Amino acid sequence: MLRNTDHSWGLVSILFHWTMAALFLGQFWLGWYMQGVRNLLDRYSLVQCHKSVGFMILGLAFLRILWAVTSRRPKLPDDMPPGERTMARGSHLVLYLALLLIPLTGWAVVSTSPLPISSWFFGLFVIPSLPLGISIHAEHLWSSLHAFLAYAAIFLVGVHVLAALRHHFKNRDGVLGRMLWPK
Ligand code: HEM
Ligand code: HEM
Repeated sequence: MLRNTDHSWGLVSILFHWTMAALFLGQFWLGWYMQGVRNLLDRYSLVQCHKSVGFMILGLAFLRILWAVTSRRPKLPDDMPPGERTMARGSHLVLYLALLLIPLTGWAVVSTSPLPISSWFFGLFVIPSLPLGISIHAEHLWSSLHAFLAYAAIFLVGVHVLAALRHHFKNRDGVLGRMLWPK
């Protein structure tokens, strides 16, 4: 029930998947929305919230990857063509990388910013900056990379969701169902 088998995802992997999917989608929306907020106080609160949720995603991503590499992985359906298998495995790997690299580049943005604004973790404690040189150029560079990775990842998530729906409605092979509840 808790652990994966050769044919099904366990509860731990399922909870990781849906918690992080919800956090990631909410975080993407927040990052996009806060850009348009003109009131400085509101924007400050939204950016602090974005940083806190982002650090949470980063921590969860490390735990999830640790869990994934020490767990069995359910086999893909036997009738899936080799090309599709490679794409499925490859895109999952890229999504894992995105869950690490997007928060890390966000952390680099706030670490290189000449504006000395602390990063509070939900108002509880301050997360220190990464040891990177502070400059407006570095901040812009990391910021562009952060935005690029976030938008590229949301595109890939779109493809990922379409693939899951195709498995469910066209192939009817139980790939979506096994990510909903452990067998
Ligand atoms: C998976 C996690 C994350 C996602 C999906 C995400 C997504 C985004 C998106 C979509 C934007 C808007 C980009 C644009 O339109 O230019 C953004 C901006 C930003 N993000 Fe993130 N982000 C994440 C984690 C983080 C973390 C951990 C930090 C910092 C600790 C961070 C700091 C920032 C900052 C400072 C901005 C620019 C805000 C501004 O210019 O007012 N992000 N993020
Ligand atoms: C919101 C709609 C989503 C749906 C319907 C969905 C569906 C699925 C399904 C059915 C699987 C299982 C594939 C298999 O059994 O081989 C899966 C795996 C996976 N999903 Fe999603 N997903 C969604 C969102 C996301 C998001 C937002 C992310 C991350 C940004 C994500 C990352 C992953 C990863 C990394 C795996 C592979 C798990 C592993 O191999 O350890 N998913 N998804």
